[in-house]
Amino acid sequence: MPATDAQRSVASTAREPQPRPIVPPETSIIVTIDGPAGTGKSTVAHALAKALGVDVLDTGAMYRAAAAIAIDNKLSLDNPEKIVETLVDADLHFDWSQDPPAILAWMRPLNERIRKPDVTAQVSKIAAIKELREHLVRKQRIIAAQHPRLVSEGRDQGSVVFPDADVKFYLDADARVRAERRAEQLAEAGQTVTIDEVHKRILERDHLDSTRTDGPLVCPDDAITIDTTRLSFDEVVERLRREVVARIPQLRRAHGS
Ligand code: DC
Repeated sequence: MPATDAQRSVASTAREPQPRPIVPPETSIIVTIDGPAGTGKSTVAHALAKALGVDVLDTGAMYRAAAAIAIDNKLSLDNPEKIVETLVDADLHFDWSQDPPAILAWMRPLNERIRKPDVTAQVSKIAAIKELREHLVRKQRIIAAQHPRLVSEGRDQGSVVFPDADVKFYLDADARVRAERRAEQLAEAGQTVTIDEVHKRILERDHLDSTRTDGPLVCPDDAITIDTTRLSFDEVVERLRREVVARIPQLRRAHGS
C-alpha cells in the first residue's frame, strides 16, 4: 500500500483544496496511531489528520531529531543527562505554521537531516534511553494540551503517552512488505539500498523498539488493529476515518455514518 508521490504531496500541501473537516472546531479529540516501521503510519496519520481537520504529531521525528543532535554534537549514549540538557538548549520544537509541521533545533529546520541513514541507524538506541523518553513524553503531552485536536503517531502513543486517547489504532504489515515500501521510499529520496538490507534493518529496529524497557512498541489492548499488507493507502485512510467517525458521538451525529 505504498503512498504514491501524488498521495504524499496531497498529504503535505497546504494549498490543495481541503475536504470538509469532520471534527467540529469545538471538539477535542486525540487519535493515536502506533505500529512498527514501514506500516505507512506517518503518511496515513497526515492524511487522516487532514480529512478530520485536526493537527498531526510525528513523534518519530522527535526521536530522530534527538539522534541527529546526539550524533552531530558527538554526545555519548552513556550520558543521557547531557543529551537531554542539549535538547533543552536546542529548544527542540515544531513550527506549526508549516504543513507538515517542521521540526527545529536551535531555530534550524532538521526535517532533511533526520531522514539520513546515520540517524536511522542510531535512532532506536537513542529512543531506548529512559531519561530521553521521559523528556519527550512530557513534551508530547504539552503539545497535545496546546493542540487538543490531534492525530499522534509513534510507538507508545496509545499505550504510554495518551492512554485515554479517544481512538487508538495499531497498524501492522508483513515485514517483507514493509521492507519493500521503505526501500521504495528511500529510492525516491535518492538512497539506493536492497530490499534484503532494509528487511534486515527493519527486523533489527522492530526488535530494539519492542524489547526496550521504557515505552516499548506494544499494541494497546483497546486499539483497533489494522493489517495494511494488502490494503491500498486510500483504503487504510478511509478505514481509519470511518472508525473515528463511528466512535465519536459528535461526529456520528454530524456525519450520519
Ligand atoms: O517512526 P520512525 O521510523 O520515524 O521512528 C524513528 C525511531 O523512533 C524508531 O526507532 C522508533 C522510535 N520511536 C519511539 O521509540 N517512540 C515513538 N513514539 C516514536 C518513534
